Amino acid sequence: MPTTTWNRHHILSLSDFTTVEYDAVLQTAASFQEVLSRRTKKVPTLQGQVVANLFFEPSTRTRSSFEIAAKRLSADTLNFAAATSSMTKGETILDTAKTYLAMGTDIMVIRHREAGVPNAIAQEMDRLGVKVSVLNAGDGQHEHPSQGLLDLFTICTLLDPANPRIELLKGKKIAIVGDILHSRVARSNIWSLTASGAQVHLAAPPTLLPKIFAEYFSEDATSLNRQLFLHWEVEPALRDADFVMTLRLQKERMTAHLLPSLREYHQLFGITRNKLRLCKPNVKVLHPGPVNRGVEISSDLMDDPEFSLIQAQVTSGVAVRMALLYFIGSGKL
Ligand code: NCD
Repeated sequence: MPTTTWNRHHILSLSDFTTVEYDAVLQTAASFQEVLSRRTKKVPTLQGQVVANLFFEPSTRTRSSFEIAAKRLSADTLNFAAATSSMTKGETILDTAKTYLAMGTDIMVIRHREAGVPNAIAQEMDRLGVKVSVLNAGDGQHEHPSQGLLDLFTICTLLDPANPRIELLKGKKIAIVGDILHSRVARSNIWSLTASGAQVHLAAPPTLLPKIFAEYFSEDATSLNRQLFLHWEVEPALRDADFVMTLRLQKERMTAHLLPSLREYHQLFGITRNKLRLCKPNVKVLHPGPVNRGVEISSDLMDDPEFSLIQAQVTSGVAVRMALLYFIGSGKL
Protein backbone atom coordinates (compact mmCIF):
# COMPACT_ATOMS: atom_id res chain seq x y z
CA MET A 1 0.00 0.00 0.00
CA PRO A 2 1.41 3.49 -0.81
CA THR A 3 2.54 5.33 2.30
CA THR A 4 0.55 8.56 2.51
CA THR A 5 -0.32 10.69 5.48
CA TRP A 6 -4.08 10.90 5.64
CA ASN A 7 -5.46 13.49 8.03
CA ARG A 8 -9.14 13.41 7.20
CA HIS A 9 -11.23 11.75 9.88
CA HIS A 10 -14.63 11.97 8.15
CA ILE A 11 -15.31 11.97 4.39
CA LEU A 12 -18.29 14.26 3.88
CA SER A 13 -17.58 16.32 0.76
CA LEU A 14 -15.05 16.74 -2.04
CA SER A 15 -15.19 20.54 -1.87
CA ASP A 16 -11.92 20.80 0.06
CA PHE A 17 -10.13 17.70 -1.22
CA THR A 18 -6.52 18.34 -2.19
CA THR A 19 -4.60 16.97 -5.18
CA VAL A 20 -2.52 14.91 -2.75
CA GLU A 21 -5.69 13.33 -1.34
CA TYR A 22 -7.11 12.59 -4.79
CA ASP A 23 -3.87 10.92 -5.85
CA ALA A 24 -3.71 8.96 -2.59
CA VAL A 25 -7.21 7.59 -3.24
CA LEU A 26 -6.42 6.77 -6.89
CA GLN A 27 -3.16 4.96 -6.08
CA THR A 28 -4.56 3.07 -3.12
CA ALA A 29 -7.67 2.07 -5.07
CA ALA A 30 -5.37 0.77 -7.83
CA SER A 31 -3.57 -1.41 -5.26
CA PHE A 32 -6.91 -2.75 -4.01
CA GLN A 33 -8.04 -3.35 -7.60
CA GLU A 34 -5.02 -5.62 -7.87
CA VAL A 35 -5.98 -7.39 -4.63
CA LEU A 36 -9.48 -7.92 -6.05
CA SER A 37 -8.03 -9.67 -9.10
CA ARG A 38 -6.27 -12.28 -6.94
CA ARG A 39 -7.68 -15.67 -6.06
CA THR A 40 -7.85 -14.65 -2.38
CA LYS A 41 -9.50 -11.25 -2.52
CA LYS A 42 -9.34 -10.42 1.16
CA VAL A 43 -6.80 -8.46 3.22
CA PRO A 44 -6.75 -8.24 7.04
CA THR A 45 -6.50 -4.41 7.13
CA LEU A 46 -9.66 -3.66 9.14
CA GLN A 47 -9.90 -6.89 11.11
CA GLY A 48 -11.90 -6.36 14.30
CA GLN A 49 -13.42 -3.07 13.16
CA VAL A 50 -17.14 -2.58 12.68
CA VAL A 51 -18.48 -0.78 9.61
CA ALA A 52 -22.19 0.12 9.83
CA ASN A 53 -24.06 0.94 6.65
CA LEU A 54 -26.81 3.32 7.75
CA PHE A 55 -28.97 3.79 4.67
CA PHE A 56 -32.02 5.94 5.35
CA GLU A 57 -32.79 6.03 1.59
CA PRO A 58 -32.97 3.23 -1.00
CA SER A 59 -29.75 2.12 -2.69
CA THR A 60 -28.53 -0.85 -4.69
CA ARG A 61 -24.94 -0.31 -5.79
CA THR A 62 -23.62 2.11 -3.19
CA ARG A 63 -24.81 0.06 -0.21
CA SER A 64 -23.69 -3.29 -1.64
CA SER A 65 -20.40 -1.79 -2.79
CA PHE A 66 -19.58 -0.43 0.69
CA GLU A 67 -20.56 -3.78 2.20
CA ILE A 68 -18.33 -5.86 -0.05
CA ALA A 69 -15.50 -3.30 0.30
CA ALA A 70 -15.66 -3.57 4.11
CA LYS A 71 -15.78 -7.37 3.92
CA ARG A 72 -12.77 -7.52 1.59
CA LEU A 73 -10.90 -5.53 4.26
CA SER A 74 -12.00 -8.13 6.88
CA ALA A 75 -14.18 -5.67 8.83
CA ASP A 76 -17.43 -6.80 10.46
CA THR A 77 -20.40 -5.18 8.75
CA LEU A 78 -23.81 -4.12 10.02
CA ASN A 79 -26.56 -3.23 7.60
CA PHE A 80 -29.41 -0.94 8.50
CA ALA A 81 -32.41 -0.16 6.33
CA ALA A 82 -34.80 2.53 7.57
CA ALA A 83 -37.96 0.72 6.49
CA THR A 84 -37.26 -2.31 8.71
CA SER A 85 -35.75 -0.38 11.65
CA SER A 86 -36.95 1.20 14.90
CA MET A 87 -37.26 4.49 13.00
CA THR A 88 -40.70 3.22 12.07
CA LYS A 89 -41.38 3.39 15.85
CA GLY A 90 -40.28 7.01 16.12
CA GLU A 91 -36.56 6.74 16.93
CA THR A 92 -34.56 9.78 15.78
CA ILE A 93 -31.59 9.58 13.40
CA LEU A 94 -29.14 10.65 16.10
CA ASP A 95 -30.48 8.05 18.53
CA THR A 96 -30.14 5.41 15.80
CA ALA A 97 -26.51 6.49 15.25
CA LYS A 98 -25.82 6.37 19.00
CA THR A 99 -27.28 2.86 19.16
CA TYR A 100 -24.76 1.75 16.53
CA LEU A 101 -22.03 3.58 18.43
CA ALA A 102 -22.91 1.66 21.59
CA MET A 103 -22.46 -1.59 19.65
CA GLY A 104 -18.85 -0.67 18.92
CA THR A 105 -19.16 0.77 15.42
CA ASP A 106 -15.93 2.33 14.13
CA ILE A 107 -17.11 3.67 10.76
CA MET A 108 -20.62 4.83 9.85
CA VAL A 109 -21.46 4.95 6.16
CA ILE A 110 -24.51 7.18 5.91
CA ARG A 111 -27.04 7.91 3.17
CA HIS A 112 -30.00 10.18 3.77
CA ARG A 113 -32.53 12.03 1.64
CA GLU A 114 -31.77 15.29 3.48
CA ALA A 115 -28.58 17.23 2.83
CA GLY A 116 -26.42 17.61 5.94
CA VAL A 117 -27.41 14.48 7.89
CA PRO A 118 -23.95 12.80 7.64
CA ASN A 119 -22.35 16.12 8.74
CA ALA A 120 -24.73 16.35 11.71
CA ILE A 121 -23.92 12.80 12.81
CA ALA A 122 -20.18 13.44 12.36
CA GLN A 123 -20.47 16.57 14.54
CA GLU A 124 -22.32 14.62 17.20
CA MET A 125 -19.63 11.90 17.21
CA ASP A 126 -16.93 14.56 17.56
CA ARG A 127 -18.91 16.26 20.36
CA LEU A 128 -19.10 12.94 22.19
CA GLY A 129 -15.33 12.62 21.81
CA VAL A 130 -15.52 9.19 20.17
CA LYS A 131 -13.22 8.06 17.35
CA VAL A 132 -16.05 7.05 15.00
CA SER A 133 -15.61 8.19 11.38
CA VAL A 134 -18.51 9.14 9.14
CA LEU A 135 -18.51 8.56 5.41
CA ASN A 136 -21.16 10.34 3.37
CA ALA A 137 -22.79 7.86 0.97
CA GLY A 138 -25.07 10.51 -0.55
CA ASP A 139 -27.04 13.24 1.27
CA GLY A 140 -30.00 14.82 -0.51
CA GLN A 141 -28.87 17.08 -3.32
CA HIS A 142 -25.62 17.90 -1.55
CA GLU A 143 -22.81 15.43 -2.26
CA HIS A 144 -21.85 11.84 -3.00
CA PRO A 145 -18.06 11.85 -2.51
CA SER A 146 -17.41 8.13 -3.01
CA GLN A 147 -19.26 8.27 -6.35
CA GLY A 148 -17.20 11.29 -7.44
CA LEU A 149 -14.02 9.43 -6.52
CA LEU A 150 -15.00 6.22 -8.27
CA ASP A 151 -15.88 8.16 -11.40
CA LEU A 152 -12.47 9.83 -11.22
CA PHE A 153 -10.77 6.46 -10.73
CA THR A 154 -12.68 4.92 -13.66
CA ILE A 155 -11.56 7.72 -15.99
CA CYS A 156 -7.96 7.88 -14.74
CA THR A 157 -7.44 4.09 -14.92
CA LEU A 158 -8.70 4.17 -18.49
CA LEU A 159 -6.11 6.83 -19.33
CA ASP A 160 -3.23 5.09 -17.52
CA PRO A 161 -4.09 1.72 -15.97
CA ALA A 162 -0.66 1.33 -14.37
CA ASN A 163 -0.55 4.75 -12.73
CA PRO A 164 -3.92 6.51 -12.33
CA ARG A 165 -3.38 10.10 -11.18
CA ILE A 166 -5.35 13.29 -11.28
CA GLU A 167 -3.07 15.21 -13.67
CA LEU A 168 -4.15 12.85 -16.49
CA LEU A 169 -7.36 14.85 -16.74
CA LYS A 170 -5.73 18.21 -17.32
CA GLY A 171 -7.24 19.79 -20.44
CA LYS A 172 -9.76 16.98 -21.04
CA LYS A 173 -13.30 18.01 -21.85
CA ILE A 174 -15.98 16.35 -19.74
CA ALA A 175 -19.69 16.88 -20.35
CA ILE A 176 -22.18 16.27 -17.55
CA VAL A 177 -25.67 16.01 -19.02
CA GLY A 178 -29.03 15.63 -17.31
CA ASP A 179 -30.76 16.45 -14.06
CA ILE A 180 -27.93 18.46 -12.57
CA LEU A 181 -30.11 20.49 -10.22
CA HIS A 182 -31.09 17.46 -8.14
CA SER A 183 -27.82 15.58 -8.47
CA ARG A 184 -25.39 15.10 -5.60
CA VAL A 185 -23.28 13.03 -8.01
CA ALA A 186 -22.87 16.07 -10.29
CA ARG A 187 -21.92 18.29 -7.35
CA SER A 188 -19.19 15.92 -6.12
CA ASN A 189 -17.94 15.37 -9.67
CA ILE A 190 -17.76 19.08 -10.34
CA TRP A 191 -15.41 19.49 -7.36
CA SER A 192 -13.13 16.61 -8.33
CA LEU A 193 -13.08 17.15 -12.10
CA THR A 194 -12.49 20.90 -11.93
CA ALA A 195 -9.75 20.29 -9.33
CA SER A 196 -8.06 17.99 -11.84
CA GLY A 197 -7.81 20.75 -14.44
CA ALA A 198 -10.45 19.25 -16.73
CA GLN A 199 -12.93 21.51 -18.50
CA VAL A 200 -16.35 20.62 -17.15
CA HIS A 201 -19.37 21.42 -19.33
CA LEU A 202 -22.83 21.08 -17.80
CA ALA A 203 -25.85 20.69 -20.07
CA ALA A 204 -29.53 20.52 -19.11
CA PRO A 205 -32.84 22.30 -19.70
CA PRO A 206 -32.96 25.58 -17.70
CA THR A 207 -35.39 24.02 -15.20
CA LEU A 208 -32.71 21.44 -14.29
CA LEU A 209 -29.73 23.80 -14.49
CA PRO A 210 -30.49 27.24 -13.05
CA LYS A 211 -28.02 30.02 -13.90
CA ILE A 212 -27.10 30.56 -10.26
CA PHE A 213 -25.88 26.96 -10.05
CA ALA A 214 -22.32 27.98 -10.94
CA GLU A 215 -22.10 30.42 -8.03
CA TYR A 216 -22.00 27.53 -5.59
CA PHE A 217 -18.66 26.48 -7.07
CA SER A 218 -17.18 29.91 -7.53
CA GLU A 219 -16.03 30.11 -3.92
CA ASP A 220 -12.81 28.41 -4.66
CA ALA A 221 -11.57 26.80 -1.45
CA THR A 222 -8.31 25.62 -2.96
CA SER A 223 -7.71 28.66 -5.22
CA LEU A 224 -7.63 26.43 -8.30
CA ASN A 225 -8.51 27.90 -11.62
CA ARG A 226 -11.71 25.88 -12.02
CA GLN A 227 -13.17 25.64 -15.52
CA LEU A 228 -16.93 25.19 -15.34
CA PHE A 229 -19.30 26.03 -18.22
CA LEU A 230 -23.11 25.95 -18.33
CA HIS A 231 -25.19 25.15 -21.43
CA TRP A 232 -28.93 24.90 -21.97
CA GLU A 233 -28.46 22.87 -25.14
CA VAL A 234 -26.55 19.64 -25.36
CA GLU A 235 -24.49 20.26 -28.52
CA PRO A 236 -21.91 22.73 -27.19
CA ALA A 237 -21.25 20.47 -24.20
CA LEU A 238 -20.76 17.38 -26.37
CA ARG A 239 -18.61 18.99 -29.06
CA ASP A 240 -15.12 17.39 -28.86
CA ALA A 241 -15.83 15.95 -25.42
CA ASP A 242 -13.52 13.18 -24.16
CA PHE A 243 -16.04 11.88 -21.61
CA VAL A 244 -19.80 12.24 -21.24
CA MET A 245 -21.48 11.67 -17.91
CA THR A 246 -25.25 11.25 -18.07
CA LEU A 247 -27.54 11.58 -15.07
CA ARG A 248 -30.92 10.15 -14.17
CA LEU A 249 -33.96 12.39 -13.92
CA GLN A 250 -34.40 12.31 -10.16
CA LYS A 251 -38.17 12.47 -10.02
CA GLU A 252 -38.22 11.65 -6.30
CA ARG A 253 -36.46 14.99 -5.64
CA MET A 254 -38.53 17.11 -8.02
CA THR A 255 -41.08 19.28 -6.27
CA ALA A 256 -42.66 20.65 -9.45
CA HIS A 257 -43.38 19.52 -12.98
CA LEU A 258 -40.11 20.51 -14.64
CA LEU A 259 -40.29 18.87 -18.08
CA PRO A 260 -42.89 18.81 -20.86
CA SER A 261 -42.42 15.07 -21.57
CA LEU A 262 -39.84 12.30 -21.23
CA ARG A 263 -39.95 11.77 -25.00
CA GLU A 264 -39.00 15.37 -25.66
CA TYR A 265 -36.33 15.24 -22.96
CA HIS A 266 -34.79 12.15 -24.58
CA GLN A 267 -34.86 13.81 -27.97
CA LEU A 268 -33.09 16.92 -26.71
CA PHE A 269 -30.80 15.67 -23.93
CA GLY A 270 -30.82 11.84 -24.10
CA ILE A 271 -27.36 10.51 -25.03
CA THR A 272 -27.46 8.42 -28.21
CA ARG A 273 -24.88 7.15 -30.72
CA ASN A 274 -25.99 9.90 -33.03
CA LYS A 275 -25.29 12.67 -30.53
CA LEU A 276 -21.92 11.10 -29.65
CA ARG A 277 -20.74 11.89 -33.19
CA LEU A 278 -20.16 15.43 -31.92
CA CYS A 279 -17.60 14.15 -29.39
CA LYS A 280 -14.02 12.94 -29.80
CA PRO A 281 -13.95 9.63 -31.74
CA ASN A 282 -12.89 7.57 -28.70
CA VAL A 283 -15.36 9.21 -26.31
CA LYS A 284 -16.57 7.19 -23.30
CA VAL A 285 -19.89 7.43 -21.51
CA LEU A 286 -20.44 7.23 -17.75
CA HIS A 287 -23.61 6.98 -15.66
CA PRO A 288 -23.75 6.56 -11.86
CA GLY A 289 -26.85 4.34 -12.09
CA PRO A 290 -29.63 3.52 -11.61
CA VAL A 291 -30.38 4.09 -15.30
CA ASN A 292 -33.73 4.88 -16.85
CA ARG A 293 -33.11 3.19 -20.18
CA GLY A 294 -34.29 5.22 -23.14
CA VAL A 295 -34.61 8.45 -21.13
CA GLU A 296 -31.17 9.91 -20.30
CA ILE A 297 -29.32 7.34 -22.43
CA SER A 298 -30.42 5.04 -25.23
CA SER A 299 -30.63 1.41 -24.21
CA ASP A 300 -28.25 0.12 -26.92
CA LEU A 301 -25.57 2.67 -26.04
CA MET A 302 -25.72 1.76 -22.37
CA ASP A 303 -24.84 -1.86 -23.24
CA ASP A 304 -22.17 -1.04 -25.83
CA PRO A 305 -18.72 -1.85 -24.40
CA GLU A 306 -17.07 0.35 -27.02
CA PHE A 307 -18.56 3.44 -25.38
CA SER A 308 -20.01 2.55 -22.00
CA LEU A 309 -17.99 2.62 -18.77
CA ILE A 310 -21.07 1.93 -16.64
CA GLN A 311 -20.07 -1.58 -15.52
CA ALA A 312 -16.47 -0.45 -15.02
CA GLN A 313 -17.76 2.27 -12.68
CA VAL A 314 -19.52 -0.33 -10.54
CA THR A 315 -16.38 -2.49 -10.40
CA SER A 316 -14.19 0.54 -9.58
CA GLY A 317 -16.57 1.42 -6.76
CA VAL A 318 -15.45 -1.53 -4.64
CA ALA A 319 -11.72 -0.71 -4.88
CA VAL A 320 -12.31 3.00 -4.29
CA ARG A 321 -14.51 2.36 -1.25
CA MET A 322 -11.88 -0.06 0.10
CA ALA A 323 -9.35 2.78 -0.21
CA LEU A 324 -11.64 5.22 1.65
CA LEU A 325 -12.42 2.75 4.44
CA TYR A 326 -8.70 1.92 4.66
CA PHE A 327 -7.72 5.59 5.04
CA ILE A 328 -10.24 6.49 7.72
CA GLY A 329 -10.15 3.06 9.37
CA SER A 330 -6.43 2.58 9.68
CA GLY A 331 -6.18 5.73 11.81
CA LYS A 332 -8.03 3.81 14.51
CA LEU A 333 -5.63 0.88 14.82
C1 NCD B 1 -26.99 8.10 -7.45
C2 NCD B 1 -27.49 8.59 -6.13
O1 NCD B 1 -28.15 7.86 -5.38
O2 NCD B 1 -27.17 9.72 -5.85
N1 NCD B 1 -26.76 6.75 -7.59
C3 NCD B 1 -25.72 6.12 -6.99
O3 NCD B 1 -25.43 6.30 -5.83
N2 NCD B 1 -25.00 5.29 -7.77
C4 NCD B 1 -27.67 8.74 -8.60
C5 NCD B 1 -29.16 8.59 -8.73
O4 NCD B 1 -29.87 8.26 -7.81
O5 NCD B 1 -29.62 8.85 -9.86
